[in-house]
Amino acid sequence: MNLRLARKEDAPTLARLHRISVETAMPWLPKLHTPAEDLWWMETIVLPEQQVWVAEIDGVIAGYAAVLGDMLEQLYILPEYQGRGVGSALLQKAIEMAEPPMRLWTFQRNEAARAFYEHRGFEAVEFTDGADNEEKEPDVLYCRA
Ligand SMILES: CC(C)(COP(=O)(O)OP(=O)(O)OC[C@H]1O[C@@H](n2cnc3c(N)ncnc32)[C@H](O)[C@@H]1OP(=O)(O)O)[C@@H](O)C(=O)NCCC(=O)NCCS
Repeated sequence: MNLRLARKEDAPTLARLHRISVETAMPWLPKLHTPAEDLWWMETIVLPEQQVWVAEIDGVIAGYAAVLGDMLEQLYILPEYQGRGVGSALLQKAIEMAEPPMRLWTFQRNEAARAFYEHRGFEAVEFTDGADNEEKEPDVLYCRA
C-alpha cells in the first residue's frame, strides 16, 4: 500500500469512490446529490480546502482521508478493499495531519464505523438528532482520547 497526497486530477476517481463507499455502507441515507454534484464538491471544496491523502494498492486508489484543522472530514474506503488495513493506515496519517485532539462526526446508525473508531481510541462526546446536518440523520461527534 502506498499513501500519497491527493492531486487535482484524482477528483473524478475520489468522487466515484466516495459515492460507492457511502451507498454501500449507508444505503439508508437519502440520496441528495447527483454524481456531477459530487465531482463539483470534490474539485471545489474537498481538494482545495482540505488536506487529502489517498491509499493506492497496485495503482488503484482504494481509499482516501481528508482533514480540516482538528476535524477528520472524510474517511472512505472502496467496499472491496475494506477490512485490509487501509482505513487504519489512512486514519493514522490523518491523526498526524490534524490539530490534536482530532474529532470527527459519523452517523449514529453507522455501527461499523463507530466500532472502528472506538477500537482506535475515539470517544463519543456529543449526540445530535440530525437537525443540523444535510441528511437530517442523527449523528455523533467523536474525539480522540
Ligand atoms: C470504516 C472504514 C473507514 C474502516 O476502514 P477499513 O479499511 O475497512 O478498516 P481496517 O481494515 O483498517 O480495519 C478493519 C476494522 O474496520 C471494521 N470494519 C468496518 N467496516 C468494515 C467492512 N466493511 N469490512 C471489514 N471491516 C470493517 C472492522 O470491524 C475492523 O475493526 P477492528 O479492527 O476494530 O475489529 C471503512 O470500512 C469504510 O470506508 N466504511 C464505509 C464508509 C464509512 O463508513 N466511512 C466512515 C465515515 S465517518
